[in-house]
Amino acid sequence: MLDFNTNHKALVLTAFSVFVVLSFGVAILPASQMEKYEALPEQEDLTDQEFEGLRVYIGEGCVACHTQQVRNIEMDQVWGKRPSIPEDYHFSKKRMDVWRQSASLLGSERTGPDLTDIGKRQPSESWQLLHLYNPRAVVKESVMPSFPWLFKEVDSNRVKESDAVVAVPSQFLNDKSKKIVASEDALQLVAYLKSLKQPKMPENSEPEFIPFSKKKKEGGDQTADASSGLDGKDLFSSTCASCHQASGEGVPGAFPSLVGSDIVNTDDAEQMIRIILEGYNELEDYGPMPGFADQLSDAEIAAIMTYERSSWGNDAPEVKEEDVKKVRADLENATNP
Ligand code: HEC
Ligand code: HEC
Repeated sequence: MLDFNTNHKALVLTAFSVFVVLSFGVAILPASQMEKYEALPEQEDLTDQEFEGLRVYIGEGCVACHTQQVRNIEMDQVWGKRPSIPEDYHFSKKRMDVWRQSASLLGSERTGPDLTDIGKRQPSESWQLLHLYNPRAVVKESVMPSFPWLFKEVDSNRVKESDAVVAVPSQFLNDKSKKIVASEDALQLVAYLKSLKQPKMPENSEPEFIPFSKKKKEGGDQTADASSGLDGKDLFSSTCASCHQASGEGVPGAFPSLVGSDIVNTDDAEQMIRIILEGYNELEDYGPMPGFADQLSDAEIAAIMTYERSSWGNDAPEVKEEDVKKVRADLENATNP
């Protein structure tokens, strides 16, 4: 038998062999397996700005609370259209620098939502900046920390035209005479967040979510049939309330109130349908609102509008799916006649 107490050569050799075997099994083999995965056809490389944003993301420790992996179980369906696959992480073959391998961003903790598809879910730069400056300005009950060091306080009369001024409601300002300007780091970080979108898969090759259990699925189909009526309130809170807030009152200075709005309260719904489909950038003092044409069906838009037009003291007639269909068709004809 080997006696490690007296045979030092055997001790060193054994330890070294274990080290080599483990390095191979834990690091080299998995890395070489990743090599065989190619980028998906619609996947884009990170731009330089987005890559710098990735460094900020790592530096600020966002991975402590946010995952970037949609697991193939049904409860993860809210975070993406399909489960994540190895190809999704293709970009991470790029080294961070000579000393550091690709970034590990899968995360293991979901104190906050998964960010795999955040670029689609929340494409608004103004929302992202305000949220980083002070999450509670847009999500009242948020427990996410604020990142004020990514912003500069600048005297109102010193603001340059090129500065990215963040519309911060006055109750969140320490000094009301100052404006909040996003630093280069903040802009890069937001560019990175906006780049996080699940790339589309080639036709018919989408992996599927595993349902909770077979039994549930069979039962589930029935309930889906019974409740095909959409809930405008639920849809509003998942798509619009991040900016306009559940109360419809918006965030002063950043997102306008829908309570008593003329556009919401007219009988003719066309302009409001257009705003939701195409986005909007007409009001002074407000940044742009993104469009929802790709995300919401005609029926969903109709349900949201009907809810908005009959809530918080608003009073305007119901909107039907056909109304939305007509405006969508008009817009499509106008762009590709
Ligand atoms: C201590 C935990 C924690 C840390 C660290 C953290 N977050 Fe969050 N984050 C949360 C929580 C909780 C929420 C949900 C509440 C909210 O939206 O503010 C959230 C929400 C978000 C959202 C909105 C997600 C959605 O689906 O609406 C984004 C984007 C985000 N965080 C980005 C970041 C970035 C970028 C960083 C790093 C600079 C970061 N977070 C650091 C906890 C955290
Ligand atoms: C990312 C933030 C954001 C989200 C999400 C959002 N909006 Fe907006 N919305 C805005 C901003 C900003 C404006 C003002 C745009 C401008 O500058 O004209 C606006 C304006 C509007 C207006 C016009 C109000 C008026 O009185 O002029 C309506 C109506 C509206 N939004 C409805 C919706 C609906 C419905 C949804 C959900 C489907 C939605 N918004 C989602 C940010 C948002």
